[in-house]
Amino acid sequence: MLDPIRSTRAVQPAPSLFATDGVRPVRRDVSPFRHEQQRRLAAVGLLLGGVLAASSAFAQTAPDPDWTTADMPSQAGRIFVVTGGTSGMGYEDARALAAAGAEVVIAARNPQRGDEAIGRIRAEVPDARVRFEAVDLADLSSVRAFGQRLGATLPRVDGLINNAAIMAPPERGTSVDGFELQFATNYAGHFVLTAELLPLLRRSEAPRVVTLSSVAIHRGGINFDDLQSTVSYQPMIAYAQSKTACLMFALELQRRSDANGWGIQSMAAHPGVAVTELVARGPGLESEQGRQWSAMREHLQTAAQGAVPTLYAATAPEARGGQYYGPTGPNEVSGPLGLATVPASASDPAAAARLWTLTEDLTGTRFR
Ligand SMILES: NC(=O)c1ccc[n+]([C@@H]2O[C@H](COP(=O)([O-])OP(=O)(O)OC[C@H]3O[C@@H](n4cnc5c(N)ncnc54)[C@H](OP(=O)(O)O)[C@@H]3O)[C@@H](O)[C@H]2O)c1
Repeated sequence: MLDPIRSTRAVQPAPSLFATDGVRPVRRDVSPFRHEQQRRLAAVGLLLGGVLAASSAFAQTAPDPDWTTADMPSQAGRIFVVTGGTSGMGYEDARALAAAGAEVVIAARNPQRGDEAIGRIRAEVPDARVRFEAVDLADLSSVRAFGQRLGATLPRVDGLINNAAIMAPPERGTSVDGFELQFATNYAGHFVLTAELLPLLRRSEAPRVVTLSSVAIHRGGINFDDLQSTVSYQPMIAYAQSKTACLMFALELQRRSDANGWGIQSMAAHPGVAVTELVARGPGLESEQGRQWSAMREHLQTAAQGAVPTLYAATAPEARGGQYYGPTGPNEVSGPLGLATVPASASDPAAAARLWTLTEDLTGTRFR
């Protein structure tokens, strides 16, 4: 059987500024165009994220920048739910967790993509304990039904990875429940899913919830006056808002877990900018954003590299709730693992509490 972690380590893509040593991001100055590449990478960061700034209220404990999935302790006996595990980072999360011995539930919309993902994982990890469950995060009745199915079939959940997302559809879409589609899929669906799984999480000895945010959050915050982007829909601004909401949710969940004794460690993570299906399925490869992304793709993170901050948050014994993990290169687009920058827009506990209460009311959901 292939060791999936080592087989990932063996990947050697074309020389680039952020060449890969397996899933460990390593900087190598290999090109005479290094400064031009740095300028372009910073431009990608600005395109997706904007200028980094601000602070975090939680005590900061930086991870080992050299941490790789090979450092992941055995996850045998632990049960994970990974939303969006059919492609991109979610697939890499599921693959690495299954390879480390975890039981993994991949949750996404399309059973055929689920079967394909499981087939690819089993090709590397024949004894992988992985299964697919259909859920549409943009339909809260689907999310609740999924939560109830898990409640009936699992003894507990040790790790929930709130990873699924869509990015910047050109036209404003709405969910089954009438929310703007990115707000619904990326944030509100995960808010309700986490509430649904709270009883299962509380049965774990050491439950963790990891919620995915993005460098895009540095482009904007929460517009409480137009939360559903009905007055003005700008695709990336709405994406940035949904991902800011995800980060605020992760930090607020930690505060509420501490206050209520739920015992959960809630972290946020982001991948930098990674080659996945997100752009193709969102703005499209023919869009201005798609063309810029395509021009840079060989210098971006692989999905396996992009998954490292999430996998660290989900499994490293030294990872801590209330932290935000990501790559630490220019504009946090790629580079070694570290603490990610929490923008001022996401670090105000009063705003996070306001958003939490608003979301409870909008979705008719309570954490109990
Ligand atoms: N790629 C990047 O550069 C980047 C940068 C910053 C942050 N991120 C974040 O990283 C995470 C993973 O994104 P990715 O780049 O790996 O994207 P991806 O390859 O497009 O994967 C997205 C996943 O989400 C699932 N999904 C989409 N809508 C869903 C819905 N309504 N219900 C359930 N599942 C749904 C998709 O599954 P099905 O279509 O099979 O349902 C797919 O598995 C996201 O949270 C994203 O915001 C990515």
